[in-house]
Amino acid sequence: MNLINLLKERRSIRKFTDKKVDKSSLEKMVEVARYAPTANNVQPWDFIVVTDKNKLNKITNLIDQGKDFPACIVVFTDKVKHALEDGANASTYLLLAAKALGLGTCWIAGYNKPFANELKSTLAVPEDKILISIISIGHPNENPKPEKKELETTIHWENY
Ligand SMILES: Cc1cc2nc3c(=O)[nH]c(=O)nc-3n(C[C@H](O)[C@H](O)[C@H](O)COP(=O)(O)O)c2cc1C
Repeated sequence: MNLINLLKERRSIRKFTDKKVDKSSLEKMVEVARYAPTANNVQPWDFIVVTDKNKLNKITNLIDQGKDFPACIVVFTDKVKHALEDGANASTYLLLAAKALGLGTCWIAGYNKPFANELKSTLAVPEDKILISIISIGHPNENPKPEKKELETTIHWENY
């Protein structure tokens, strides 16, 4: 698939088959996320890859969205000036890399969430790290088509 089509066809997937996700695919996603742009190239991130059933159960209970997933990557950053933007860029790269690998993902909001400290202790993450996102990952078991705003209503040439 060419990149333009991949960007347009990625959708948030919330229903997954029971099939396990290859360790090599998870590693590839993080390998790619390292190339996301960051302010001053600080690359302030850590990616926690989780496939252990007990830990996944703890995470799904914490985020409380009634969703199960066979794997996830939890994105943390250091407390840098552009932590949110840097971490969001890496999160987006994870979504796109997964799509290229034939996997489905959903970005689950983590930034400023009250469960951040408990999630950090579940994953043995130092307290000073900032939780950005939880990217759920699996083999897609749905094909959603959320509406997107029309180009004409969003693009502005030269002025608003
Ligand atoms: C910052 C951010 C937070 C999100 N948080 C959640 C979430 O907590 N739960 C969820 O099911 N989807 C979440 N999403 C996914 C959005 O709902 C989804 O991207 C949006 O509906 C558009 O659908 P699409 O990703 O298929 O284009 C989040 C997306 C972003 C970018």
